[in-house]
Amino acid sequence: MLSLGIEGTAHTLGIGIIDDKGNILSDVKSSFFPPKGIHPREAAEHHAEVAPKLLKDAIKEAKINPEDLDIISFSQGPGLPPCLRITATFARALSLKLKKPLVGVNHCISHIDIAKLLTSAKDPIILYVSGGNSQVIGFSCNKYRVFGETLDIAIGNAIDKFARECDLGFPGGPIIEKLAKKGRYIELPYTVKGMDFSYSGLVTDVTRRHNSGAKLEDLCFSFQEHAFAMLIEATERALAHTEKQEVLITGGVAANNRFKEMLSDMCKERSAKYFACPMKYAGDNGIMIAWSGILNYKNKKTLKTEESKILPKWRVDD
Ligand code: ATP
Ligand code: FE2
Repeated sequence: MLSLGIEGTAHTLGIGIIDDKGNILSDVKSSFFPPKGIHPREAAEHHAEVAPKLLKDAIKEAKINPEDLDIISFSQGPGLPPCLRITATFARALSLKLKKPLVGVNHCISHIDIAKLLTSAKDPIILYVSGGNSQVIGFSCNKYRVFGETLDIAIGNAIDKFARECDLGFPGGPIIEKLAKKGRYIELPYTVKGMDFSYSGLVTDVTRRHNSGAKLEDLCFSFQEHAFAMLIEATERALAHTEKQEVLITGGVAANNRFKEMLSDMCKERSAKYFACPMKYAGDNGIMIAWSGILNYKNKKTLKTEESKILPKWRVDD
């Protein structure tokens, strides 16, 4: 069975083709990162412009004919409404033209599904850390549940904000990680409330210290230590609460080596297994949507065109 997946919730339009054994046949994408930040309508225009060529490229790379596809999967939400609308329209048109079932996919769950496929994690506590999301998630009593999450901005967003305030460039993550290697520890705000955490206070504090002349390397190092420790504390509690034995990290912030080191240390102490989604598929891509599409299809979750409206606020626990 062949699934074509279209990802288009935010800055990236990605198209991927995968079979039901998990073999990746093609994976193409185009991202829109304007220097002044993303405007939803402009990103949607970008997606509409590149979609036909990406589709051709994906079919060509997979060495198949469009008729060989069995299902058309698309990211139905959550995300920026103008981007979701373009993606859904493109998917509907393709499904109608090829007369193939249309399958809607939750973007956040597809980050988890692809990470599980590509690692051997079976029933992990998932740490989903990206530009727009910071959640500690686990599957329990037949659904995904959020055990902890950010009360304000996502960790990736916090990192990028901090970098922007200090004129470090975008995306901030890799730059801060590099500077942190030469930094020393300063105590900063650490905000964990129950199982949730928050980042705006931390960003405000490091920005203020930067403006009053603190050493940038020290701020980067200490920012990372505090920001990551908050997430790891919530993850450890979720592990203890659910008695699960595995932790899986995914999302763009999972590229950070210090983060992975801290998380794997915590797992070692608790004798839990640690898994990380391969970075190639940890950011937004069409393959993850195509794979979740297969899982949804096998659970009889297809959509009639009239039922396929976008779901900009669709949560992982809905
Ligand atoms: P979402 O899944 O919420 O739509 P997104 O697509 O915006 O998120 P990703 O591409 O998954 O986000 O991740 C981008 C984020 O990852 C950026 O905020 C970036 O700064 C961060 N990032 C990338 N590399 C690193 C790194 N080495 N250390 C820390 N953060 C990093
Ligand atoms: Fe994403």
